[in-house]
Amino acid sequence: MWGNLTMKQSYKNWLIEKDDFHIVTLYLNIPDTSTNVLSQEVLIELQTILDEMKKMPLKALIFQSSKEHCFIAGADVNEFSKFIESNNAYDEALHAIQIGQHVMNSIENLPYPTFSLINGHCLGGGMELALACDYRIALDDSQTRIGLPEVKLGIHPGFGGTVRMNRLLGVFKAMNLMLSGRILSVEKAQRFGLIDNIISNKIKNHHFRDLVNQWIDESLSQKKGILKYFTQKHKRPFYNNLLELNFIRPFVSYLISNKVSKRVKKHHYPAPFELINLWQLHAGNDDFMMKKEAESVACLITSETAQNLIRIFHLQNKLKNLTHSSTDKKIKHIHIIGGGVMGGDIAIWCVYKGLTVTVHDQNNEVLARLVKRASDFFNRKFKEKHQFQSALDRLIPDINNDGLKKANLIIEAIIENVEAKQSVFKQAENIAHPDCIFATNTSSIPLDDISHGLSDPGRLVGIHFFNPVSRMPLIEIVSSNLTSETAKKMAMQFSGQLGKLPLPVRSTPGFLVNRVLTPYLLEAMELYTEGVPATFIDQAALNFGMPMGPIELSDKVGLDICLSVAENLSKSQNVSVPETLVQWVKKGHLGIKTNQGFYEYKKGKPIKNKTDYTGLTLTQVSNRLMFRLFNEAVACLDEHVVENEDFLDAGIIFGTGFAPFLGGPMHYIKHQGIAEMDHKLIDLSKNFGQRFNPGLGWNTFISMH
Ligand code: NAI
Repeated sequence: MWGNLTMKQSYKNWLIEKDDFHIVTLYLNIPDTSTNVLSQEVLIELQTILDEMKKMPLKALIFQSSKEHCFIAGADVNEFSKFIESNNAYDEALHAIQIGQHVMNSIENLPYPTFSLINGHCLGGGMELALACDYRIALDDSQTRIGLPEVKLGIHPGFGGTVRMNRLLGVFKAMNLMLSGRILSVEKAQRFGLIDNIISNKIKNHHFRDLVNQWIDESLSQKKGILKYFTQKHKRPFYNNLLELNFIRPFVSYLISNKVSKRVKKHHYPAPFELINLWQLHAGNDDFMMKKEAESVACLITSETAQNLIRIFHLQNKLKNLTHSSTDKKIKHIHIIGGGVMGGDIAIWCVYKGLTVTVHDQNNEVLARLVKRASDFFNRKFKEKHQFQSALDRLIPDINNDGLKKANLIIEAIIENVEAKQSVFKQAENIAHPDCIFATNTSSIPLDDISHGLSDPGRLVGIHFFNPVSRMPLIEIVSSNLTSETAKKMAMQFSGQLGKLPLPVRSTPGFLVNRVLTPYLLEAMELYTEGVPATFIDQAALNFGMPMGPIELSDKVGLDICLSVAENLSKSQNVSVPETLVQWVKKGHLGIKTNQGFYEYKKGKPIKNKTDYTGLTLTQVSNRLMFRLFNEAVACLDEHVVENEDFLDAGIIFGTGFAPFLGGPMHYIKHQGIAEMDHKLIDLSKNFGQRFNPGLGWNTFISMH
């Protein structure tokens, strides 16, 4: 092939360019997609190219991407799901991983310097390819994202990444990145030692190869070696050799495992523990560690946990895709009415994401407090003074409600009162631009009640944010039969602008998330009233896999809010409000915000006393909690609150944190057996009353599967 080398040679996925200085650039450009991933096809093609290239007398090899904001986003996750379908799942997975390892080893063994020029996403397998190169150079671009997020899919790096990360950064930094799955900006990646140099975006377009050539030539002539151009080239701290001594490794592993087990349980998420184990047993013996790395990933990837987490990755993408709506009108100016807890947080988040926001509140002091809150938030988020200042400039307190005239989107976040909300939108309809969309953040009032009296009720859509806005990834996009397609699409697109996941839901009481979560929280309060200690109830939920116990969560949400949601739901659903909740709220014990709820709080942390409770078992408690949630989820599906099971699972996972490793409530019910779960509910209803009666939806669900 190379005997007849022309300047350019093209494969299906790779383009090879050789210049007059004997520098070759390999461009990855997977056809018909905006994302580069390392599928088996891409890897096998690359191996063929590398086998030829190692014989060539080249000066350097550069890996680049032809995509706008994507170097390589990782291995091909779609292929991960296919392994499980095979009878030979483990062997097939192992074979696929070994192909990846072989490619990376071939890059590492090339007899001339290799470079990765990173633009946009460089994640997972993409980062492992970059790690196999001698030098990693990233473009100075806010869209560049670097990391090894494999643990989030229930696996760990498998293309030699565990070995090379340890070699490059040492155990603590390498484990910090791989165990958390953190994704870094260019600057952070350089500080960690993952990136050797950051270069201006312009250089990419203007002869990066010329620069490399110059580096190499000058280095050779001055015999200083190419390293002089990488003044910040990372060196692994020397003490790592000591940490890898046989008798020290178990101690280091213990320290790291101990830290991880405070965040996740081994039987829920085995991957981080397998990764630590891999290092403990094999660090220092690269070849063997690589072999064991492949076996470990093959084992993990074919497990139930990884397959469920991969499912969630796909669900997340499904919701993300909804943000690419066909409307070409980007929202630029938001006007928010009500600058309290939610309105204020929504305003801050919109500004943080680059939008201009005017905020009106009937109480001017609320606006003053909002500016202070925003300033604290931007101070934490923005390093550069000009970014901080320009964010503050985009947040405009609007005493006279002038923003009504200018906005593309008006969001109402005033008190939960239907007449007050109606009057806000009536005023807006008289003043706003005819194309402006109206949104309400109501958590319980039917949309058609709020739009009652508007001459065009189709303009109103629900955009239901969760508290705290900055941390919750989901937004429910609520529509009634009257809501126009334009309003829905704008709301979906707006979610994308905010980096949130939109979940389309029907305007029914509680929508999806609050409706499913409330019976679960109320059951926790029932248990508490029966004398089960708060810590025991929370522990039962944590053991099931919930990220936080229901008692602590209720305190966090605010017991007054729990009460108002429960009262609203009790009008239409099989929900009764526990007396304990009413009493706590009467006493002003509202949870974390008053330092007293079910728990007492010191410096924002609950005081959890040890308990020697011996009544119910943890499983009995978690069954009662979870079956209330499952029953409501099935009812929501039956009543078409969401379009399908996938959306329901996505909503509950991203809206409540429901144990991701179980794949979502509907997936879990199917996995356990729908009929068996239905029978368990009947048993619970015999013991604890009609709130456990299975809804009609169970029969439909059984007949669907
Ligand atoms: P909040 O009481 O903190 O804020 C409401 C603000 O609206 C206050 O600052 C008040 O001065 C202002 N206001 C009231 N009537 C007004 C009017 N006619 N014109 C201008 N300003 C007016 O309430 P919060 O918690 O922010 O709730 C707002 C909305 O968001 C409610 O509909 C609530 O159901 C919903 N929501 C609340 C969540 C929460 O966790 N707090 C979560 C999701 C939705």
